[in-house]
Amino acid sequence: MSDAPETTEITPEAVNSAVDAALEAIAAAGDTATLKAARSAHSAEGSPLAKLNARLRDVPNDKKAEFGKLVGQARGRVNQAFAAREEELAAAETVARLEAERVDITALAARARVGARHPISLLQEQIADIFVGMGWEIAEGPELEHEWFNFDALNFDVDHPARQMQDTFFVDPVERHLVMRTHTSPVQVRSMLERDLPLYVLCPGRVYRTDEFDATHLPVFTQFEGIVVDKGITMAHLKGTLDHAAKVLFGAEAKTRFRANFFPFTEPSAELDLWHPTFKGGARWIEWGGCGMINPNVLRAAGIDPEEYSGFAFGMGIERTLMFRSDVQDMRDMAEGDVRFSEQFGMVV
Ligand code: DAH
Repeated sequence: MSDAPETTEITPEAVNSAVDAALEAIAAAGDTATLKAARSAHSAEGSPLAKLNARLRDVPNDKKAEFGKLVGQARGRVNQAFAAREEELAAAETVARLEAERVDITALAARARVGARHPISLLQEQIADIFVGMGWEIAEGPELEHEWFNFDALNFDVDHPARQMQDTFFVDPVERHLVMRTHTSPVQVRSMLERDLPLYVLCPGRVYRTDEFDATHLPVFTQFEGIVVDKGITMAHLKGTLDHAAKVLFGAEAKTRFRANFFPFTEPSAELDLWHPTFKGGARWIEWGGCGMINPNVLRAAGIDPEEYSGFAFGMGIERTLMFRSDVQDMRDMAEGDVRFSEQFGMVV
């Protein structure tokens, strides 16, 4: 802008046109940067208004008040318009920035599916916890087992039907006498041979039978075996223990009862029935597992004197337990490994 104060006469027209130009530029400024440029053109040093203001010096004294007022008011209006527009633009810019930086806190974070633990694993751990809570130890035995542990030491006759090819997976070569264990009961014998007395042991684990794969049978399933050997152990201890386990697993209303039965490794032997008011189909008794007092022949096979020690044992299926506890209709759901089935039991990791 050329500096020519001498050509800038103070007239109401000159003042008004400077004000109009300033107000126009202010209104046209769409952002604070443009407004800043408008300010230096229309209000700062060198601008028409500033030049008019500088000319006040040369105005004769009798006109000073009048002209001073004219220019002063003009500058006041323009500065006020700048301030108002600046406030407006700054507010609009804040709103625009907040909008641009907006974070939708209600949006679901993209997350990877973590899967879920299998309900049989969870239940197996819950069962183990019940017994650990009573001071028992947890034992494991091999799934590929010697026939002697799976049958002979448990007092099975050589011609017991369970040994037949149609029930048991025998493993080649047959002369090695290896089977996929048909129950967790061989761990009874292993525990008695390996551990010191008294013995309070729970063995959860996988077992194998040549069963059909249907709604109530799996060729590979899970059992938990309990073994106690101590002095003075009676069937009352067995009943009390199983009653406690039933109530912890199924609720305080659960009841148990024994029904006479036969197992080669227990004498007397019983079938354990479980009653609960909310079982599918109403309050009723279901068969839960087998149990009994350890047969003296089994104690002897493990080198324990049956005159000095007695014990009890029990074995239950965990899939069957889950069926009744969680109302699962078809056991095959437990074998198929669909995560949508497992997720219904919670996402515990
Ligand atoms: N082993 C038996 C089965 O799989 C269940 C069983 C019955 C286990 C009686 C025991 C017992 O410990 O005493 O059918």
